[in-house]
Amino acid sequence: MDFLRNVATEYQTVFYLFTVIFFIFGLKLLTSAKTARKGNLLSALGMLIAITATLLYKGILSYDLIIIGLVIGSIIGVVSAYAVDMRAIPQFVAILNGFGGGVSALVAIVEFLKGELPVNVQKLPFDEATKAMYFHGAVSLDMFVGTITFWGSMVAFAKLQRLITERPIVLPAKNLINFLLLVGIIVFAVLLTLYPENILYMIGILVLASLLGLSLTLAVGGADMPVVISLFISYAGLSAGTLGFVFLNHGLIMVGALVGASGLILTRIMAKSMNRDFYGILLGNITPPEMAESKDSKDFYQGKVKSTTPEEVAMILESANTIAIVPGYGLAVAQAQGAVRDLYNELTKDGKEVYFAIHPVAGRMPGHMNVLLAEVDIPYDKLKTLEESNELLPDTDVAIVVGANDVVNPMARDAKDTPIYGMPILDVDKAKTVIVIKRSLAPGFAGIPNPLFIKENTLMLFADAKPGLSEILREYKGLKS
Ligand code: TAP
Repeated sequence: MDFLRNVATEYQTVFYLFTVIFFIFGLKLLTSAKTARKGNLLSALGMLIAITATLLYKGILSYDLIIIGLVIGSIIGVVSAYAVDMRAIPQFVAILNGFGGGVSALVAIVEFLKGELPVNVQKLPFDEATKAMYFHGAVSLDMFVGTITFWGSMVAFAKLQRLITERPIVLPAKNLINFLLLVGIIVFAVLLTLYPENILYMIGILVLASLLGLSLTLAVGGADMPVVISLFISYAGLSAGTLGFVFLNHGLIMVGALVGASGLILTRIMAKSMNRDFYGILLGNITPPEMAESKDSKDFYQGKVKSTTPEEVAMILESANTIAIVPGYGLAVAQAQGAVRDLYNELTKDGKEVYFAIHPVAGRMPGHMNVLLAEVDIPYDKLKTLEESNELLPDTDVAIVVGANDVVNPMARDAKDTPIYGMPILDVDKAKTVIVIKRSLAPGFAGIPNPLFIKENTLMLFADAKPGLSEILREYKGLKS
């Protein structure tokens, strides 16, 4: 045991380096659905190396508190992961990011209040004053990033959980206020670095960073929350990284940088799919266009909707050669992935060309639809991206939209007064025939009516996705017997 502890202590950074290498290759493998499982396993292995190397570190004198923390944390983690309804996953992710930032800020506060420099900082080849300045600078940065992450994520959670209004709450002269808050934080951070004995400077950073976190996120509307959540994933990584600077822990610094960078890349992808300005997001400037008074959807649809039956849909499918299936949030809530796979199998058995048109923000979390469809073994090459689908749709005989709404709403093209204006959509309306399976004419996440439902070539099948699809399959098989 002593030998192991000696090796872990002596070569800790080398072990952390291995962790990061495992993470990088893991992330690479995660970019394709085919290799994602391997990527997950590799990353988990990397994490295991980091945890083992940390637990064996000689600086740990007693394991009592660590074990209590591990047990309590694991119980809360496992129970909540099972208990959280799938529809609430975005809120769950938001709150987890928030805890990450909050913990990072709390550890920095505790280290600051201890009044002594961490072991690794003491080893730095500088004089005492410089080491202290370095440490207090790192602590200030960590408190700043951690606190913003905590409050920003709490607002995202409250909005998505509908505990507060989803509409943007924008302070007058918001950008000026945010700028002044940032300047205030920098001033307090410099003061804390120079005069650490004054605890008021620390409180100043915490209060102003809390206000900045609140102001940046309250200004964002509910529909843009996915982008904000990706941004806070990045911030949570950065706060872990800044905590790494406090302790001079290379593992935390490297992993924090990796998470920070991946979060930013994800934010960019999400911003592109929702047509939001990436740099605006960084500054909390993603207020969508002022929403028009919610249109009376009764008038909007009155007398213009053509409904259909599973039997009619089966007949249309029988005479089609190319079919697109467009999954959305409703498919996920209905847990209809198995039913959609059965229909897919039957149609392909008959030689029909069937593909899945997947919008990057369909559902309620990044990659939601890919995960559901991979779960039921839909071949990866049948999952088409937004761009690929939009090339195929005009030559597609039938597009079956299952529980999707906003991602196929043509209003995104030209209705400037809607929250989805400018978001790239799947051009489902260009398919020869469109069948929409949903329970009613209720709107989607963005809360607006959808002109696709009253288009000449659209038929509505009002049904819950799962029984609706099963019924279509039954009728389709019936046609052949
Ligand atoms: P939505 O626009 O939210 O529409 C989902 C539709 O599913 C609803 O209109 C609903 O209509 C229908 N539905 C619900 N339960 C159903 C069931 N059991 N059976 C059949 N249909 C059912 O979904 P979408 O098109 O996937 O768009 C996603 C939206 O969520 C976008 O606005 C996106 O910005 C937002 N968002 C995305 C994410 C990410 S990262 N993907 C995160 C947060 C928010 P009925 O009630 O009439 O059935």
